[in-house]
Amino acid sequence: MAVERTLSIIKPDAVGKNAIGGIYSRFESVGLRIVAARMKHLTQKEAEGFYAVHSERPFFKDLVSFMISGPVMVSVLEGENAVAVHRDIMGATNPKQAAPGTIRADFAESIDENAVHGSDSLENAKNEISYFFRVTELCPRTR
Ligand code: PPS
Repeated sequence: MAVERTLSIIKPDAVGKNAIGGIYSRFESVGLRIVAARMKHLTQKEAEGFYAVHSERPFFKDLVSFMISGPVMVSVLEGENAVAVHRDIMGATNPKQAAPGTIRADFAESIDENAVHGSDSLENAKNEISYFFRVTELCPRTR
């Protein structure tokens, strides 16, 4: 299996609940390594740019408002099959449909405030990582 990188965002609801450590521990427990991380309070422009692909969807405005309502923790995770592994442990977009034991089942209340974002393909992961981090900011593990 290939070693991949994916972009993770711990969203304002989960940061507000003091759940950064709890969620990082889920990543580490499935072998995902944090190779870059930054806390950021997104500007409206940054959030709109990040979610531009959803700009025509009815929830776009609410999604952007939510994402700028408080700081987020943006991270790059590395590991075998990282994109799919991260999506699996996040659980379904709607926490009410998320499998027990997933991050969204355990840390999120509703589809509009669902604790975490994860890239949905390797191609999107590359674009999303470069949206937030320069190549020189990534720290591949040496041990
Ligand atoms: S996904 O995960 O991309 O397949 O889900 P999708 O349904 O396409 O949703 C895209 C992002 O929009 C968020 N979302 C919503 N926000 C607010 N209100 C409603 N109703 C809503 N439905 C979906 C969803 O969490 C996705 O954001 P990210 O950050 O990618 O998880």
